[in-house]
Amino acid sequence: MTLWGGVFSQGLDHSAWNLNASIDIDKRMALEDVTGSQAWANGLQGAGIISPDENQAIQTGLAQIFEEFKSGNFLYKENDEDIHTAVERRLGEIIGKTAGKLHTGRSRNDQVATDFRLWLMNQLPLIEHSILILQQVLVKRAETDFGYILPGYTHMQRAQPILLSHWWLSFFWALNRDRQKLAYIKKVSSSLPLGSGALAGTAFNIDREKLAVDLGFDAPSPNSLDSISDRDFAIEFLSFSSLLGIHLSRLAESLVLYTSAEFAYFKLADAYSTGSSLMPQKKNPDIFELTRGKSGVYIGNLMGLLTTLKGLPSIYDKDLQEDKHYVFSSFDTLVLTLPALAGAVETLTPNAQIMLENIDSSMLATDIADFLVKNGLPFREAHHVVGQIVQYSMKEQKGIDLLTKEELLKFHAAFSVITPDVLSATKSISNRACTGGTAEKAVKQQLKLAKDQLELLFV
Ligand code: ARG
Repeated sequence: MTLWGGVFSQGLDHSAWNLNASIDIDKRMALEDVTGSQAWANGLQGAGIISPDENQAIQTGLAQIFEEFKSGNFLYKENDEDIHTAVERRLGEIIGKTAGKLHTGRSRNDQVATDFRLWLMNQLPLIEHSILILQQVLVKRAETDFGYILPGYTHMQRAQPILLSHWWLSFFWALNRDRQKLAYIKKVSSSLPLGSGALAGTAFNIDREKLAVDLGFDAPSPNSLDSISDRDFAIEFLSFSSLLGIHLSRLAESLVLYTSAEFAYFKLADAYSTGSSLMPQKKNPDIFELTRGKSGVYIGNLMGLLTTLKGLPSIYDKDLQEDKHYVFSSFDTLVLTLPALAGAVETLTPNAQIMLENIDSSMLATDIADFLVKNGLPFREAHHVVGQIVQYSMKEQKGIDLLTKEELLKFHAAFSVITPDVLSATKSISNRACTGGTAEKAVKQQLKLAKDQLELLFV
């Protein structure tokens, strides 16, 4: 039986039933649905709508249903349109007619919005944990790879030498911003819809403040109409997932390049690469490629729900039933991707020798300019002088670090005080010692800050 059959003289057509039913999706919120009902029944007793005995019967029945869901023994029936119907139907089977009192003063509209928020709040710690693991891996990499020098690129052209640890930690901070957003998602999720009825509020004297406390929400929603139609929390989660997915994708893309034979900065572990059915020699970076590929899922889900919401008249519209699919999909994809990526990063073997060989001396051009600046030249002039030196070194096919003092003096008299140690990748790195720079000293400070962040949980 449906929860709404009274006014109808004909049942739903099969095709309409199939389109309308949401049980396959909202099964995932079964425990939250029962928890919401347990609190609601207490609220009904508090408002004097049901007696303590009736509440006791309802609580006993709901506790049994909770166990059935948990153990996987709950039997769904063909007519279970959605999770709310399934729970109420089962409650009736267990405790009889009193079950019919549970839905007093509430609607599936406020119920589903409550279930969904509760579900998301319950899952946020798992997402936070998975991000944290990847952050820990990045910190570990930054520690074990400390001292290795990596060519830093801009425009994918060789730019300046950097510490590999500095590079690893650059992804740490992006992930940290993502992780911090979870606190905000929790906050916007934590406004309780229950007690808003179908749209206008409930006609019974329910203590919604107590209801909010009982269900672990910050407070009851201040406007029933907004509360029924608000899916901002879902959008925030999907938007968070999209940007996180993009961060993961950029890390993954870099590692697809760096594990290729052309770069060969890292070797993939066998446990995180797959072979080709045709080419026996292949070891493919599938985990990085899939991480990159999955970013499309998160963005697609965000676009999907934004599009569903756009143009909906207030207040509840059945289109809103589409919301859960998007959130579940992004959630599942993150839970699948983050651990595999963490493992793949953790097990990479760096090749410090090749990284160093790829630092060519032109990457020290800025350091020569900085030397001239320190010896009194305006930077613009120094930039020009060094440009000419680079041109000369290319013509002579001689690295700028190999030019003699005599050759340099042809370009500027300030080179009279140059010493051989000015031009090296190590020196270039250690010069950049201000906060946030790539010098050993600065990266050590950064590592400490990063480790402090690992101690913090945001949800
Ligand atoms: N299954 C719906 C959803 O997920 C909730 C039920 C609302 N049904 C209704 N007839 N108002 O949004």
